Amino acid sequence: MKAPLIDPFARAISYLRVSVTDRCDFRCVYCMAENMTFLPKKELLTLEELDRLCSAFIGLGVEKLRITGGEPLVRRDIMTFFRAMSRHLDSGALQELTLTTNGSQLARFADDLAACGVRRINVSLDTLVPEKFAAITRWGRLEQVLDGIRAAQRAGIRVKINTVALKGFNEDELFSLADWCAAEGMDLTFIEVMPMGDLGNEDRLDQYWSLRDLRARLAERFTLVDLAERTGGPARYVRLEETGQKIGFITPLTHNFCESCNRVRLTCTGQLYMCLGQEDMADLRAPLRASGDDAGLEDAIRRAIALKPKGHDFDYSRQAVAGQMSRHMSHTGG
Ligand code: GTP
Ligand code: 5AD
Ligand code: SF4
Repeated sequence: MKAPLIDPFARAISYLRVSVTDRCDFRCVYCMAENMTFLPKKELLTLEELDRLCSAFIGLGVEKLRITGGEPLVRRDIMTFFRAMSRHLDSGALQELTLTTNGSQLARFADDLAACGVRRINVSLDTLVPEKFAAITRWGRLEQVLDGIRAAQRAGIRVKINTVALKGFNEDELFSLADWCAAEGMDLTFIEVMPMGDLGNEDRLDQYWSLRDLRARLAERFTLVDLAERTGGPARYVRLEETGQKIGFITPLTHNFCESCNRVRLTCTGQLYMCLGQEDMADLRAPLRASGDDAGLEDAIRRAIALKPKGHDFDYSRQAVAGQMSRHMSHTGG
């Protein structure tokens, strides 16, 4: 048994988020610039290389693997990778194989994902109004995503909706989103917008809707019961007593959760980012390609984990944006 990955703040790293592509078929305004320049395909790790890297992490105690992007389902042959990863579920080394997706390609892939042991997925959806959906994604079709969600449910996959709370954009949909998720049997998680990418600072502050406020509005209509359960991610959950529905809150701004951080992020070019909100990273592509033997790779992973910072510096509390990252969210998959 190998020693588990423990960072300098005594946090065990058991959750790896893997961005398999920087590309996406949408351009959500808070996530990507309209004219993104994407990496040349030859820069990407191959699916075999991604397999070797993820397997090395699993050998070092990673139990939860979340595939992200960009949009993970636009990577060519991505099901080959899911199929390969499912062997770690079969062996019991991996507890959960999952993905965060914009839902656009789910209708095509839901059955294959279920066959690979994916039991639960997170779908990003910020509005139920088709025109607003087209505006926030810059051209996405809501109906395509709803079809995808229905296909996932038919395949027996549990769907959680991730909604970025955006002032002036979806404030008026708080209850319609909650009601829709309750009716469809889906959990719903709200996320505070983080200052990532090259959007102007004033825009960030204008967009920011704190989940403290959102929660207070929810409490005007429902009785919120705090739940102790966690899913291995940063969300904290409440149950609405009246409907039994579960709602999650991801609050990097109003309630920093870095103290219990258990995750690192691998980019599609093999860089390991130790924190979403910091630049600390290590290149794993060179040690991966240097030798077919995993000893050097494992050493590089351990050295990287030793660099994991305490947390992010995001802060809007002084009516100014602190901790701004020039890196786009799509680079590390959220
Ligand atoms: P569950 O397994 O369902 O708990 O998912 P998760 O919350 O780990 O993953 P998901 O991809 O749904 O994360 C939703 C969003 O939460 C991400 O897109 C980020 O915006 C944010 N998030 C996730 N992890 C972190 C983190 O470590 N730090 C910060 N600041 N935000 C995070
Ligand atoms: N702040 C918070 N969440 C974001 N996401 C993308 N950009 C941001 C941001 N700046 C979320 C998406 C999706 C996930 C991949 O990341 O909505 O749920
Ligand atoms: Fe694509 Fe998701 Fe970013 Fe939107 S938030 S542009 S769907 S990666």
